[in-house]
Amino acid sequence: MEILAFGVQADEKPLIERAFGIHEDVRCLDVFLNADTAPIAAGHEIVSTSVNADLGADVLEILAAGGTRMVAQRSTGFNNVDLDTAERLGMTVARVSSYSPYSVAEFAWTLAMAVNRRIVRASIRTRDFDFRLDGLMGRDLHGRTAGVLGTGKIGEAFARIAHGFGMRLLGWDVAENPACAELGMRYVPKDELLARSDLITLHVPLMPETRHLIDAAALKAMRDDAVLINSSRGGLIDTAALVGELRAGRFAGVGLDVYEAEAGLFFLDKSLEAVEDDTLARLVTFPNVLVTSHQAYYTEEAVGQIVDATVRNVLDYREGRRSENVLVPRS
Ligand SMILES: NC(=O)c1ccc[n+]([C@@H]2O[C@H](COP(=O)([O-])OP(=O)(O)OC[C@H]3O[C@@H](n4cnc5c(N)ncnc54)[C@H](O)[C@@H]3O)[C@@H](O)[C@H]2O)c1
Repeated sequence: MEILAFGVQADEKPLIERAFGIHEDVRCLDVFLNADTAPIAAGHEIVSTSVNADLGADVLEILAAGGTRMVAQRSTGFNNVDLDTAERLGMTVARVSSYSPYSVAEFAWTLAMAVNRRIVRASIRTRDFDFRLDGLMGRDLHGRTAGVLGTGKIGEAFARIAHGFGMRLLGWDVAENPACAELGMRYVPKDELLARSDLITLHVPLMPETRHLIDAAALKAMRDDAVLINSSRGGLIDTAALVGELRAGRFAGVGLDVYEAEAGLFFLDKSLEAVEDDTLARLVTFPNVLVTSHQAYYTEEAVGQIVDATVRNVLDYREGRRSENVLVPRS
């Protein structure tokens, strides 16, 4: 029976069709799953969803009423899924618990280097044949301190690159990662990390206890000349508070691949529409801020691994196997 895949980017479509093709029929839609689009899934036992799908209670109820029994989410984070409702409805929900952590760690570094060395402004200038260096001064990272909040797979990959640059490493996590400790990372309380780091990067999952991990107080605790990078989930930062600090002229650079109100914006072309989101509109006006639209995972390797794992998740569901990727039913 046909699987319906929501939120498929043009680059992903051939990969998804090829990977599923041997085993299953798949239909790819570019629309994202939400309450308006959920009725399209009627009659599909299995749907596959992308990172910005809305899998809240209302949408899950619509899917279940249409006969959907399994959701194969094509991401690691699952903060968009109401797991309790899925369980109550007797659905199976699987995610991709791991894929190339290098995709995200390397992109976090891309943002860090771009804001530190003013690459976007430099590129705009040279296109305009303006070859002055005023305002483009960056800083050596060698010998400076990188603070990694969340030292799991991606945080560790980020720390290895920081180590290669000759940076001192501070970490904060509920569980220490021995591989990071081996690199010389010192685990410290969050406030100490924020106060002492030149470069702060977020790699914890978004959960109720990490929501607005970087709130007004945390932003105040950071150095005025810190670089802040978020390639994890937008909800980790209180964006309104961040805008307030940026208005006050703080921070050497801020690189955001994620934004707390990104659903309904990121992955879509909104270039011809009036901007309704004043916070995002203000954010992109700061010369020291760089915003990208949730593309950190978007490498050939990572997308290939996500698609392969999603196919495995579907086959496991069909054949009644359990794996670490299954979120619901809880074991
Ligand atoms: N921008 C993107 O394209 C993209 C792609 C993939 C993942 N991500 C995000 O990156 C996150 C991290 O991915 P990962 O593969 O490194 O996950 P991981 O599970 O390997 O690491 C997460 C780390 O966070 C720590 N942690 C969990 N809860 C915590 C808490 N309350 N306080 C402090 N530390 C806590 C864990 O102990 C773990 O070390 C994902 O949850 C996802 O949100 C973003």
